[in-house]
Amino acid sequence: MQENHDIKPQTSIFNDGYDPRRSDGAVIPPLFRSSTYLFNDAEEGKRAFEIVYGISPAKEGETPAPIYSRVSNPTCEILEKRAIAWDGAEEAALFSSGMGAVTSTCLTFLKSGDTILFCEPIYGGTEHFFNNILPRFNINAKCFPIGAKTDVIDNIVKDDPTIKAIYLESPANPTMMVCNVPGTAEIAKKYSTPDKRILVIVDNTMMGPIFSSPLKLGADIVLYSATKFFGGHSDLIAGFSMGSRELITQIKTFRTILGSNSDPDTAWLIHRSLSTLQLRMENQQKTAARLAEFLLTHPSVEKVAYPGLPGMGQYQNELLKQQFTGSGSLICFCVKGGEAEAYRFLNAVKCIKLAVSLGGTTSLVEHPFTMTHSDMAAEQKLKAGITENLIRFSVGLEDTDDLIADLRQALEKIASPDKNG
Ligand SMILES: Cc1ncc(COP(=O)(O)O)c(C=O)c1O
Repeated sequence: MQENHDIKPQTSIFNDGYDPRRSDGAVIPPLFRSSTYLFNDAEEGKRAFEIVYGISPAKEGETPAPIYSRVSNPTCEILEKRAIAWDGAEEAALFSSGMGAVTSTCLTFLKSGDTILFCEPIYGGTEHFFNNILPRFNINAKCFPIGAKTDVIDNIVKDDPTIKAIYLESPANPTMMVCNVPGTAEIAKKYSTPDKRILVIVDNTMMGPIFSSPLKLGADIVLYSATKFFGGHSDLIAGFSMGSRELITQIKTFRTILGSNSDPDTAWLIHRSLSTLQLRMENQQKTAARLAEFLLTHPSVEKVAYPGLPGMGQYQNELLKQQFTGSGSLICFCVKGGEAEAYRFLNAVKCIKLAVSLGGTTSLVEHPFTMTHSDMAAEQKLKAGITENLIRFSVGLEDTDDLIADLRQALEKIASPDKNG
């Protein structure tokens, strides 16, 4: 290979972070289930603790010896080193769930008296954490509508010196609206001071890591529910936080104390899923684009939200072009009618499954108003565009024509509920 050849993420995920010669030549990294690890001598043990507790940081090229699997585990660490390939992060921290990543990351950097500013809508669990749990620790949460232009965000940050972090979910779950990440990062930089760095944290679950790389657009940290595309097979729960070594080291120290780390079995499964992540996301996207076109033409469908469609509006599609390399595989659509009509559709699907979650190989549909976002007040949901006729559709890897046929027969049930078939 030429010396200046640029290795692509799809190749580095098979090579980085693991030397087979250290594990009897095993090409695939082994599963290290041990909870505790032998020190070669007491000095090595002392040094490992100094590093993980931040008493004396690791020197360039120094790797702390494994101690105990709540602190770090070799299988989890190999995954952490490989999963960063697409985002261009220096480090990753693996968590027991996406919510583990969200809560541990925010708690690492927020303290009593601080405010977190976030875009709305946002995943229901994150919204609950911001609005119901953080205030119990005297941490305030403030929101702005996701479609807001940067002058709106600038005015909020300018007027509130307690804002310590800006949290974006882009595209937002479930409306697929996109945030201006570079614009927000500039605002954070503008109002940061030597004593107060305003962090921009982006939940990149919906399109990352293949179609979206917020760290390259100025964000400080990206978060994932690895339960979704990273895991990709609806058979595990996990999360990631990724960013600079400086920030992720702080997050890992918090993770050790909160105990929100993942386990080696889960890490091994995600590692296995990594090799097909790009292939899966690209194929799911191809199918989703065709299904979005089909839904647009169906008489029982009122509206389709899929990034790039003209109906998303010019500003949204400009943001999409600047920040994403694709449109992903999540489609939100409104059926004509309300909850009853939406339920008729949901109860009629056959190869598409009625279940929450997204990003897996199996196509899933759900009703955000009464399911994933049921915790929000009705008024708040409507303001955020989460209406009673809205359906979230995560497109999987089934045959496209079969999915179209399933959609067609289920949509027919809206107009003629008694029709058999
Ligand atoms: C965008 C987003 N972020 C975070 C989460 C939470 O992830 P987990 O369920 O893995 O805790 C979810 C879950 O659906 C999500 O959709």
